[in-house]
Amino acid sequence: MKLLISLCFIFLSSAFASADILFQGFNWQSWTKEGGFYNFLKSSVPELASAGITHVWLPPPSQSRDPEGYYPGRLYDLNASKYGSQAELKSLVEAFHQNGIKCIADIVVNHRSTEREDAQGVFFEGGTPDGRLDGGTSLICNNDPNFTYGTGSPDSGRDFPFGPDVDLLNTTTQQQLSDWMNWLKTDIGFDGWRFDFVIGYATSITKFFMEQTKPDFAVAEKWDDFTLGQENAHRNALRDWVGTAGGAITAFDFTTKFIFNQAIKGELGRLKDSNGNPAGMIGVLPQNAVTFIDNHDTWSQRLAPFSDDPDKVAQGYVYILTHPGIPSIFYDHFLEWGLKDTIKNLTAIRKKHGINPTSKVKILAAESDLYMAEIDEKIIMKIGPKGDLGNLLPSTYQLAYPGKDFAVWEKI
Ligand SMILES: *[C@@H]1O[C@H](CO)[C@@H](O)[C@H](O)[C@H]1NC(C)=O
Ligand SMILES: *[C@@H]1O[C@H](CO)[C@@H](O)[C@H](O)[C@H]1NC(C)=O
Ligand SMILES: *[C@@H]1O[C@H](CO)[C@@H](O)[C@H](O)[C@H]1NC(C)=O
Ligand SMILES: *[C@@H]1O[C@H](CO)[C@@H](O)[C@H](O)[C@H]1NC(C)=O
Repeated sequence: MKLLISLCFIFLSSAFASADILFQGFNWQSWTKEGGFYNFLKSSVPELASAGITHVWLPPPSQSRDPEGYYPGRLYDLNASKYGSQAELKSLVEAFHQNGIKCIADIVVNHRSTEREDAQGVFFEGGTPDGRLDGGTSLICNNDPNFTYGTGSPDSGRDFPFGPDVDLLNTTTQQQLSDWMNWLKTDIGFDGWRFDFVIGYATSITKFFMEQTKPDFAVAEKWDDFTLGQENAHRNALRDWVGTAGGAITAFDFTTKFIFNQAIKGELGRLKDSNGNPAGMIGVLPQNAVTFIDNHDTWSQRLAPFSDDPDKVAQGYVYILTHPGIPSIFYDHFLEWGLKDTIKNLTAIRKKHGINPTSKVKILAAESDLYMAEIDEKIIMKIGPKGDLGNLLPSTYQLAYPGKDFAVWEKI
């Protein structure tokens, strides 16, 4: 009986299992790669698998006005992408699957580029012979300040200033977009989603997409403005959004990201909240928080960079790879910055000790030049230049992985 109950429990918890480690598989320049980016990335697949990565986030796959893919038009047309053709994408997804890695598509549906604008009007095309996602001005919100031709519903979220905002309250559009996502699953092989710019539309719409497409894993870019001193409000907004979106989705932990941007400049005490817990979203809803150090916006476009010092970035990974939440590794840091071995050693420690999204953190020190924590009573980590740890380290721990201004210990 007891065995049966625990078997049921294992089955149930694995049914809700999310990602172990996510990898952002591109940056803002990736589309320029000679010979095609999809072809290029394929050669790194075995190495990514050996680093313990379970999910890879790929760039927006559709024809787009900008080369990076974030202003898409013909959503079904995957041949006009600057990253490569539909066949090359499918082959890349297959290579990831053969190595046990699931593939996440970047879903950009808040705004859309026109196919043509002429004397007859403004037209959008979906890229299919049978007119799916085709249409005119009725597809666009009627209150877009920059694109005033729209006749749909008012925008249900924040305006995207560089393109017309799609009327996502239109139920035909909602259905056609979730059909498109399901096509990305069945025909291309994608397993889940990274939702771009979710502050641009109502949370109920994300919930609808989640219910209609049942992804293996999904993460949202809910990037709210951040002010130091408002950490709690910022992370609570992330937590509440996840709840309203149905609870199955995860969100990038922008709170941890913004706090850490400041903390790494000699203010490590900021990583602890007033209750003694981690100060970011991982302190309130770790199982739905995807932690990261930088991405194609914050780093590649310098919108909110963490640090250009690899030793500091290494400390960033020591933190996210030993802490709860779902850690995400950025393309540049793994493939271009020489941090591959550091990251691999840290993911190996995470795996060895079963550190997971809900692991328990006991913060031992949070000062300007030292942050030290014990996780699950299995490992202890420290970052920061302070060398004298006093008697913070119990004698039951031994050094597992030292580096410049960081160390990880494991229980003997
Ligand atoms: C893209 O190319 C593939 C094969 O070359 C083809 O099957 C598919 O229909 C093309 N898609 C579009 C939208 O042109
Ligand atoms: C909803 O979108 C469809 C096209 O997909 C369009 O024909 C229809 O007019 C739109 N409905 C409204 C109320 O704008
Ligand atoms: C959209 O409007 C903003 C002002 O709200 C302006 O700064 C921006 O240049 C406009 N963008 C385009 C593409 O028209
Ligand atoms: C990381 O671990 C490997 C063994 O997996 C070891 O050979 C290597 O020296 C370690 N790298 C560092 C920088 O400690």
